[in-house]
Amino acid sequence: MKAIVGSDHAGINGRKNATEVLRNRGWDVEERGPATEEEKADYPDIAHQIATAVTSGEAELGVLVCGTGQGMAMTANRYPGVRAAVITDQFTAQMSRAHNDANIACFGERVIGQEQIVTHLQTFLDTPFEGGRHQGRVGKIDKIVGEA
Ligand code: RB5
Repeated sequence: MKAIVGSDHAGINGRKNATEVLRNRGWDVEERGPATEEEKADYPDIAHQIATAVTSGEAELGVLVCGTGQGMAMTANRYPGVRAAVITDQFTAQMSRAHNDANIACFGERVIGQEQIVTHLQTFLDTPFEGGRHQGRVGKIDKIVGEA
């Protein structure tokens, strides 16, 4: 199982924590992003790399960390088949998997801090997609407006 984890300079600690969580669970993890906070990175450049790996099937799962998680999700969600969720608490961690089948978890390190990224990511990983009535709804996400 391959995961790809990225951050800009505002999410380095969360990125490292996420990588550790995933490796401890047996994921093969590739990391993208700067090594230090002084090495500035533009969040879209990182999000494009992670979303490209997920949309192509090269990675099953992506994790993105920036200051708020928002810019990462905005960028990643431009890719077909990508369902990037900004996770702020335990409920969104669960529901983004159970109902939305999210395949990229986005976190804001300046919003929730690096410890909560660990807690919420664990919940995200522990929660399966429920399928059923949610399958059809998820299938509609990639439909362009005007399509039947
Ligand atoms: C970087 O300063 C910050 O704008 C970025 O990490 C993120 O919060 C954008 O969505």
